[in-house]
Amino acid sequence: MKVTALSDDNSQRAQAALRCLRTAGQTVLPSLLLCDFGNLEREVRRLEEAGVLGLHLDVMDGHFVPNLTYGMPVVAALRKLTPLPLDVHLMISNPSRYVSQFVDAGADVLTIHAEVDEPLDVTLETIRSEGLGAGLAINPSTSIKVVKELLPLCDLVLIMSVNAGFGGQSFNPVALEKLRLMKDAVSPGTLLEVDGGINLSTIRGCRQAGANMFVVGSALFSQANYQAALQQLNNELQR
Ligand code: DX5
Ligand code: ZN
Repeated sequence: MKVTALSDDNSQRAQAALRCLRTAGQTVLPSLLLCDFGNLEREVRRLEEAGVLGLHLDVMDGHFVPNLTYGMPVVAALRKLTPLPLDVHLMISNPSRYVSQFVDAGADVLTIHAEVDEPLDVTLETIRSEGLGAGLAINPSTSIKVVKELLPLCDLVLIMSVNAGFGGQSFNPVALEKLRLMKDAVSPGTLLEVDGGINLSTIRGCRQAGANMFVVGSALFSQANYQAALQQLNNELQR
């Protein structure tokens, strides 16, 4: 009984988060990969005060990508700290094994990679059946064909503008062409996200190509003043 109630709460919160992201227009999402994990609560407060509309959480398993970051306990800790939408980017080999644990941890959107060796449709359907937003990500060298076939199962499409695995890489312009093609392919409610090397020089081109969610790691966390850095990025989006 308790499990059902918790699951309903998660589903309602996740659906509200999706509505929030859909109506927000252009959204800059901080990737917490480079934040100060020794002061996580302070980092969250600084980001909330800066006016962010959601948090992007990069989960890496040291297998699908060479890097290893964090998992469910950190997502759960963030869930306790903030009502902001949690956009969880799973760079892990077997995402289907962990969906229910990320649901329990409080994720709102769960994005899996198209390059994993699993039936993508089944995992996307499972994520949706839990009431969360289902996302599908592709690396720069992966064709958008695979995403197009699965679009009816996706609430979010993530076009990677670097190879998944590390923060601080340079933007790969191949993402722009993919964003343009995806913009024409997705239905109006589908979120179109870009991730990797987004900064003051690259964000505007991504907006013009059709993205509406912009993940920013190093360009934000290298700055002392998150509010000013976010404002500058938003100014670029609106220019
Ligand atoms: C890369 C991650 C990104 C990354 C963004 O695999 O998915 O979210 O941390 O960081 P920057 O903005 O530094 O490229
Ligand atoms: Zn990411």
